[in-house]
Amino acid sequence: MAAVGDPIIRVEGAVKVFRGGVRALDGLDLTVEPGIVYGLLGPNGAGKTTLIRILATLLRPDAGVVRVAGIDVRRDPDTVRTCIGLAGQYAAVDDHLTGRENVEMVGRLYGLSRRDARRRAAETLARIQLDGAADRQVKTYSGGMRRRIDLAASLAGRPQVLFLDEPTTGVDPASRRDLWDVIQDLVGDGTTVVLTTQYLEEADRLAHRIGVIDRGRLVSEGTPEQLKDRTGDAVLRLSIPDAQLATANTVLQALGPQPSGHDRQRGTLILHATDGVATLREALRRLDAADVIPTDVGLHKPTLDDVFLALTRHRTADDTQHSAAV
Ligand SMILES: Nc1ncnc2c1ncn2[C@@H]1O[C@H](COP(=O)(O)OP(=O)(O)OP(=O)(O)O)[C@@H](O)[C@H]1O
Ligand SMILES: [Mg+2]
Repeated sequence: MAAVGDPIIRVEGAVKVFRGGVRALDGLDLTVEPGIVYGLLGPNGAGKTTLIRILATLLRPDAGVVRVAGIDVRRDPDTVRTCIGLAGQYAAVDDHLTGRENVEMVGRLYGLSRRDARRRAAETLARIQLDGAADRQVKTYSGGMRRRIDLAASLAGRPQVLFLDEPTTGVDPASRRDLWDVIQDLVGDGTTVVLTTQYLEEADRLAHRIGVIDRGRLVSEGTPEQLKDRTGDAVLRLSIPDAQLATANTVLQALGPQPSGHDRQRGTLILHATDGVATLREALRRLDAADVIPTDVGLHKPTLDDVFLALTRHRTADDTQHSAAV
């Protein structure tokens, strides 16, 4: 078992090649300290679900060392299973059972007595505010309700480590906030949560640390603030009327760093503001001299969206090489 101070998750050189040659994990290294929310980000097909499934012992890595709570997932998957919970990208609940029965069943699988499983299910269902629908068969649930019951089931065993693969995809904004509260409570109680999400705002809000995965490798890692700082300059966005867009583009090109991109359709010019507010003032001065009047101006520090795009932008061009190159 893990000693105090050890990471709760340690992945070294994990490789997973699927039949057909897709190298879903390509020597991935990752360390997660206990008691935090760790966010995994990455484009579609990056390897996030593959990693979660390996950590949750549903898949075996082809190479590398993967330890959860100090236990090797290849050598002793049964012991790993006793200390983890998983809510998957595709909710794995039994349609013919009620929500409550699903949650109780998972509790029983974790070895709780019937009474304890029932009590804990009631607590968990109240926590995710699904108690009203708890006694209906899951097949009558909406997509968002299924996700929430799947999450409730993953909590039934009070896991030491909880893996959540896109827990809030398709969940409405109010329920999403409820789930965030549940996750934060859990971490407050000492659970370690590893979650993937396509909602960068969610990662920013919840995750203490974030790992960005691309093509089966960890390409960047740190706190949300560290990732943003590493991405570099503040970004200046100027909304320009269509008729003046070409002029604005020319005028701003002389302003040191070239506009890093512009979206003619939405009439927005984006440039790196190397000198922050000074760049903003100079841009406005130049536009003014050319009689260009922006309809909107915004200067902002890089967001996680910017981090994500900067790290994974190449993909549109060489997306297909990933599998073909193996
Ligand atoms: N069972 C499988 N058989 C063959 N290829 C697979 C299998 N599972 C995943 N892959 C491939 O492995 C790669 C990584 O997939 P994975 O599901 O881990 O990505 P992901 O990061 O979770 O993506 P998404 O954001 O779309 O959920 C993809 O190219 C995918 O097509
Ligand atoms: Mg996935």
